[in-house]
Amino acid sequence: MLITFEGIDGAGKTTQVNLLEGYLKEKGLKVVVRREPGGTEVGEKIREILIRERVNPKAELFLLLASRSELVEEIRSFLAEGTVVILDRFVDSSVAYQGFGRGIDPSLVEKLNEFATGGLKPDVTFYLDVGVDVALERKGKAKDRFEEREFLEKVRQGYLEIARREKERFVIVDGTLPPDEVHRIVVLELEKRWMRC
Ligand code: TYD
Repeated sequence: MLITFEGIDGAGKTTQVNLLEGYLKEKGLKVVVRREPGGTEVGEKIREILIRERVNPKAELFLLLASRSELVEEIRSFLAEGTVVILDRFVDSSVAYQGFGRGIDPSLVEKLNEFATGGLKPDVTFYLDVGVDVALERKGKAKDRFEEREFLEKVRQGYLEIARREKERFVIVDGTLPPDEVHRIVVLELEKRWMRC
């Protein structure tokens, strides 16, 4: 099973990824966690570039896709041996950030994602929804940075749009709830889905 967590910066993805990893391992499952951008040796180098350099939106997208393509090879082999893979961001981040956020046609981003991943899609995606004010406050960033506010608002609306289109895969969780409550919702949802399989 491939499980992804998505959300704007400060939504609390990383906390939830760690809680879920612990829970599934306690249940005796084999679990690996990877983050994007990054996750592989080359991917982590690409992450460094993305963090350090200012690149134009198209170049940014291609770097992200290169990192993703490397990671997907690894993910496929984990999935083939029955390991549960949890990803902190995946394909939907590019549609939300580079597509809806930076203004690249979201359907083009989707096509490029498909090319980079060979069509690999998450079985379930937990989208942790928080308002931009909450996100910026959690990150300790000033609320009045208009540019960042406006950008994150577009990204958030983008995620909500993807969720509307991908109702079966996407689970929207209120990211303002306490972390253990969010974790409980995630676990209940997974159990529900596992029972259906
Ligand atoms: P991340 O490490 O998840 O940051 P955080 O923990 O603060 O959410 O992601 C780093 C940044 O990379 C984040 O601002 C989102 C961005 N990003 C994209 O713009 N597109 C993508 O496809 C991915 C994977 C990340």
